[in-house]
Amino acid sequence: MTTPSPRQVRHFLRDDDLTSAEQAAVLDLADAMKRDPYAYRPLEGPRTVALLFDKPSTRTRVSFAVGVSELGGHPLVIDAQGSQLGRGEPVEDTARVLERQVAAVVWRTFAQARLETMAAAGGVPVVNALTDTYHPCQVLADLQTVRERKGSLAGTTLTYFGDGANNMAHSYLLGCALAGMHVRIAAPDGYRPEAGVLSRAEDIARGTGASITVTGDAAAAADGADVLATDVWTSMGQEDQADQRAAPFRDYAVDERALAAAAPGAIVLHCLPAHRGEEIAASVIDGPNSAVWDQAENRRHAQKALLHFLLAGGTAPAAGREG
Ligand code: CP
Ligand code: NVA
Repeated sequence: MTTPSPRQVRHFLRDDDLTSAEQAAVLDLADAMKRDPYAYRPLEGPRTVALLFDKPSTRTRVSFAVGVSELGGHPLVIDAQGSQLGRGEPVEDTARVLERQVAAVVWRTFAQARLETMAAAGGVPVVNALTDTYHPCQVLADLQTVRERKGSLAGTTLTYFGDGANNMAHSYLLGCALAGMHVRIAAPDGYRPEAGVLSRAEDIARGTGASITVTGDAAAAADGADVLATDVWTSMGQEDQADQRAAPFRDYAVDERALAAAAPGAIVLHCLPAHRGEEIAASVIDGPNSAVWDQAENRRHAQKALLHFLLAGGTAPAAGREG
């Protein structure tokens, strides 16, 4: 009898850490968990999941904490300023300490490289709870929301307006390409996606039937879109650029005009927090096409499914009550 090899540790550092098929399986599981929130108990014990925050958070913190509890586990929320990580303790040392205490590490931080270091040094799954470059848990929840509202993902068109170089734009490029969607990024000069992320999205799109468009023409990008998405013009960590960012983004607001150009019944997404009257009109975010509250709720279901998948070494259980 051969000794089974140890299970590979799976991480979710960026959207394309899941294949297209794995993304679909996680979304199916998320739907099942939404229907029956207490049916899945992979963290029974309870096993602990560390939730580390180097930046502020409301939705991510709450949805992971509640989600881990619903999975039978214990969420341990650690803010940077209350930990040695925040005082400069090496990420590698933190990873070695955490892997002996917790089942998984969920981390919101600045540079993507810090997250990669944590994943390489520790022996438990590491999940990106937002970095400067990606916000993949948000896009999983957004895909669940689009699927609920539109019935399918492949072939639908999502237009993202605003900062094309931020974490949400990058994650929409990769996550929507994996789902076979048509992704349009409408962004001003100087705020277009990083070349490496764009070429990776184009590679993925060739295999899934997706398409990628980056344009400065906001009106053309809105035309016939099924989903209009936006995000803040100034992300966390960029506060000193807020004044210079307002003018270039003014033509990229999701307003009544953009909505009128979109497909009939288009839905509107914003990961929140939102600034009414800046990147999104109050009448749009608070109007009938807005799906933002479902989107915020779906963070919990999508992340629970993701954690279950990662804790099982990269397999999703069949939908239905366990145990
Ligand atoms: N959308 C999102 O990640 O929200 P928080 O910053 O409140 O976690
Ligand atoms: N792009 C935003 C997303 C907030 C959830 C930021 O990084 O601040």
